[in-house]
Amino acid sequence: MKYYIGADLGTSALKLLLVDVDGKIIKTISQSYSVQFPNPGWSEQNPQDWWDAFLVGTRELISGINPDDICGIGAGGQMHGLVVLDKDDNVIRPAILWNDGRTNKQTDYLNTVIGKETLSSYTANIAFAGFTAPKILWMKENEPQNFQKISKIMLPKDYINYKLTARHSCDYSDASGMLLLDVKNKRWSKEMLDICDISEEQMPQLFESFEVVGTLKGDIASEIGLSQNTKVVAGAGDNAAAAIGTGTVADGMCNISLGTSGTVFISSDKFSLDPNNALHSFCHASGGYHLMGCILSAASCNKWFCEEILKTNDFSSEQSSISDDMLGRNDVFFLPYLMGERSPINDTDARGTFIGLRMDTTRTDMLQAVLEGVAFAIRDNLEIAKASGIKIERSTLCGGGAKSQLWQKIICNVLDIKIDIPVTEQGPGYGAAMLAMVGCGEFSNIKECANAFVKIKKTLTPDSELSKRYDEQYDKFKEIYPSVKELFKKIK
Ligand code: XUL
Repeated sequence: MKYYIGADLGTSALKLLLVDVDGKIIKTISQSYSVQFPNPGWSEQNPQDWWDAFLVGTRELISGINPDDICGIGAGGQMHGLVVLDKDDNVIRPAILWNDGRTNKQTDYLNTVIGKETLSSYTANIAFAGFTAPKILWMKENEPQNFQKISKIMLPKDYINYKLTARHSCDYSDASGMLLLDVKNKRWSKEMLDICDISEEQMPQLFESFEVVGTLKGDIASEIGLSQNTKVVAGAGDNAAAAIGTGTVADGMCNISLGTSGTVFISSDKFSLDPNNALHSFCHASGGYHLMGCILSAASCNKWFCEEILKTNDFSSEQSSISDDMLGRNDVFFLPYLMGERSPINDTDARGTFIGLRMDTTRTDMLQAVLEGVAFAIRDNLEIAKASGIKIERSTLCGGGAKSQLWQKIICNVLDIKIDIPVTEQGPGYGAAMLAMVGCGEFSNIKECANAFVKIKKTLTPDSELSKRYDEQYDKFKEIYPSVKELFKKIK
């Protein structure tokens, strides 16, 4: 039997999947690591922690398997993170992550001085604080000694691929989130590199996600216990990888991910642009394109509320006290902006907020408000898509949060669309393994692989009464942020 490894380099953990050539998940390993918040709104990780997790996790994943049977590795990874290497390929400083909000000033500079229209004409996108280009400008301004040392710039999963193959590579889907790629024409934007004062030599080589970038370095192969012939594909940003893993590959298909972040991913065969750039316009790992909205805190809100506030990690028994008749009838609302917010409000000062608490409010009401608040914030993104003429009638749902049947139901009824639940909620890791299979020639393209492998285990249909109640609740939710927006600037 031939096997493939799919890696999902997430924010809270590295998830590794061993998948056989028939698409069956044989084994899953999760290796957690921490996020450092050195200042309010900052978010960093040490690339060495990712690599250590990869080494330990992969050894365990492949134990008992003949190394010669493991043909390929693909990785999907958290997007936008700035990883910088010096001339000896040592990491210069901790990676600045996708949900880091330190670059307000640089983001404003890009959007106002360079101008949104110009940025959009170069890259198909405007600047958001979490994107990579503003972080490069931040480094130049705040850590000039580190900036001077930069020999290579890369994204998180590219660091893993570099350690495996010694090649500096990046795929188009992940590169799209740097604000340095001319997305439409799939090449680095000379203008953006100039604006950031970097050269093309400092950038990795670009590939399609399913293209092979190299084979394993000899020393690494023996350190892990793999064969030197194992191929490594370029991989993808985690959302594009998740789209592959959930079969979101045809024009107009949608995937919603409930991971640390929450995303609405709309696949498209052709390049397109959201007229106000509220949705990102990125390349897809399938070779096509996509539009995407991203909320910075999704399943992480539930994790935060349960672990930090309620002091429990038994999420499902905590949710079991939310009964069906309570849905759409909560007087408590929650704004899920624990790390500020990206789409669509683009506000690094925004913060999490409970509103409507009373003396008889219970922990159950508050937990329900958290789950519903995330669903409403996802709906904000769907509304943007709707306003630009995109019709979404159904979506797949993946990510850790998608394991909760209650949350599935809330999402389905708040969005009022059909929700398909794939057999595995491990979208990015499964998609990454599929990319490796295509790269190794098991399939001639991604669509063929997705048709063969992706299976839906159940479909949820909205309940008209509940959706109506949620419509009314959403109308109230929409009023909260504009009412407190100015206050957030004062209390940061
Ligand atoms: C997408 C984004 C997040 C990260 C999370 O633009 O920032 O979804 O990729 O890993």
